[in-house]
Amino acid sequence: MEFRDVVMKRRAVRRFEEGGVDPAVIERIARLAQRTPSAGFSQGQRLVVVTDPGARRRVARTCGEEMYADLGMGPWISECAAQFVPCVSAEIYHRRYQEADKVDDEGREIEWPVPYWFVDIGATTMVIMLAAVDAGLASGFAGAFDPAALQAELGIPDEFVPIGVMPVGRPLPDVRSPSLARGWVPFEEFARFERWG
Ligand SMILES: Cc1cc2nc3c(=O)[nH]c(=O)nc-3n(C[C@H](O)[C@H](O)[C@H](O)COP(=O)(O)O)c2cc1C
Repeated sequence: MEFRDVVMKRRAVRRFEEGGVDPAVIERIARLAQRTPSAGFSQGQRLVVVTDPGARRRVARTCGEEMYADLGMGPWISECAAQFVPCVSAEIYHRRYQEADKVDDEGREIEWPVPYWFVDIGATTMVIMLAAVDAGLASGFAGAFDPAALQAELGIPDEFVPIGVMPVGRPLPDVRSPSLARGWVPFEEFARFERWG
């Protein structure tokens, strides 16, 4: 698929067929997701990929799946081919930026102007979404309402924050988000050439 088509076809899908995807395809998406940049090549991003149906249901509960079901959206977080759970450790970045090539003249870690660990896990997330589309699949994103419960369910170490749960699978007709009624910000507001003002 053309890159432009992959980008334009991507959307947050909220209903999937149960299973039905070759595990090799799921692994290929995970392998592509690893090829994401990171500040200082810290590589603080990790993925947990959940395919077991019972585990998927328990994971979905930590994201408030019942609430979505009550809104008529169905069990879109548990029913899918696999859940991708992107996790990130700020500690890995702090440790990396205490290495000799990263410390300042006084040997201190930089003051972080931006928490790059969340930038990097966002990039990982985007590769998952685009790789799913490229594989003829789709993905969604459910915020982790209870990250501690998600950590406990999946055995994720304290150091790693699970930023959400991404169901991946064959898309089914779904309920579109009411947020989309906001429409896109005009391109001229989003992008300015040469100077902001
Ligand atoms: C960081 C992030 C968090 C999101 N959290 C949720 C969520 O908790 N529940 C949900 O239904 N959609 C969630 N979404 C999906 C957005 O609502 C969706 O991406 C947005 O409305 C734009 O729609 P589109 O992705 O189809 O273009 C999230 C998306 C992002 C990037």
